[in-house]
Amino acid sequence: MTDRLTTAVAIIGSGPSGLMLGQLLHRAGVDAVVIDNKSREHILGRIRAGVLETVTVDVLDDAGASERLHEQGLVHRGINLAFDGGLHRIDFEALTGRHVVVYGQTELTRDLMEVRSASGAASVYDAQDVRIEGFESAHPVVRYRKDGTEQELRSDFIAGCDGFHGVCRQSLPSQSYKTYERIYPFGWLGLLSDTPPAADELIYVNHERGFALCSMRSHARSRYYLQCTQHERVEEWPDDRFWAELKRRLDPQLGERLMTGPSIEKSIAPLRSFVVEPMQFGRLFLAGDAAHIVPPTGAKGLNLAASDVRYLSRALTQFYRNGDSHELDRYSERCLRRVWLAERFSWWMTSLLHRFADAGDFGARIQRAELEYLVRSRAAAVALAESYVGLPLED
Ligand code: FAD
Ligand code: DHB
Repeated sequence: MTDRLTTAVAIIGSGPSGLMLGQLLHRAGVDAVVIDNKSREHILGRIRAGVLETVTVDVLDDAGASERLHEQGLVHRGINLAFDGGLHRIDFEALTGRHVVVYGQTELTRDLMEVRSASGAASVYDAQDVRIEGFESAHPVVRYRKDGTEQELRSDFIAGCDGFHGVCRQSLPSQSYKTYERIYPFGWLGLLSDTPPAADELIYVNHERGFALCSMRSHARSRYYLQCTQHERVEEWPDDRFWAELKRRLDPQLGERLMTGPSIEKSIAPLRSFVVEPMQFGRLFLAGDAAHIVPPTGAKGLNLAASDVRYLSRALTQFYRNGDSHELDRYSERCLRRVWLAERFSWWMTSLLHRFADAGDFGARIQRAELEYLVRSRAAAVALAESYVGLPLED
């Protein structure tokens, strides 16, 4: 037996991109169903992004999911770069007149899930064996199993918001797209703890033992990252070892003041740059990590997901309001211009701050020269700041 459903837009993936798109469409009166192959609890267990650009905050405002973000999000007007034993502030407010907001992806996802379920819009979790078909025609279909029953969802469009390992990009005919990729020879080991942050603002550390990042989720919850090798496993990093290594990469005064405590989450993320072109195939539109990955150093992944979804929701809304597909046709080209600028920035921040085994002493000296240039030259600092706070959207 097969249960049959219909909707306007089938959204695959209930991460930030799928949920933001779902809410923007709902508010514009466009029907959508969100389908994820994991449970709500599993999705909310992922600890990822922490830094939001204004563009992302605006999307959450428009999605009606920003109340808690405005109450609890921390406005950050700058970041610190630590190298050669010194701490140097990049003042976003002075350099660009703008700022970022520190608010965890987990909380943002929870807020979006709550507004979605309060609105009565349909979501399916724990869907098994999700498949997409017919997106080259005007009648795409999503098939999956739920509680042992085969389901068929017919739609006008499919939004592939299912992350890097999702089914949507993998369903494209192989000759229809091109991918661009760089895999970095290291990963990030992250630790979350209920301890006060090391400083009021984030600290990005370039150190001979490797990159470190001191971040936060609130005044009482900290997030730290250490550059580690690609092959390391979390089990090899008991908390004591993590804290000791972090202190070695911080300047001694800061290390001494660092408040340590038991971890509440620890995980390792690989670092990768990846783009698929184009981001549209027939009636399938890819958004967020399904279409592109950036190494996390520039804090751009979630923010790019928000800008894709902003373009896609407007294009779909225009289609349903007046039958105009002009914006849908421009979707891929428009997104990719912003995607490549963020790819460049994330690659550059990664190159600037990490230890590369094959770059040798020369590479380390070039990094130091670049860091000094950033600290001394307003033009160089503006270039960092304007990408970090987020480049403007096209109209
Ligand atoms: P995802 O969050 O991956 O969501 C995809 C969803 O699709 C998931 O719920 C998944 O279960 C579901 N799915 C997968 N396969 C299927 C299938 N076959 N069928 C149905 N559903 C499926 N970004 C920033 O902007 N700022 C930061 O500070 C930042 N820091 C980061 C730090 C780390 C350590 C990491 C790892 C990432 C960071 N990012 C950051 C990146 C950010 O987390 C991602 O870009 C973001 O999660 C992308 O959202 P998404 O919805 O596109 O994909
Ligand atoms: C965080 C992650 C990042 O990639 C980054 O650049 C800044 C902060 C975070 O998880 O807090």
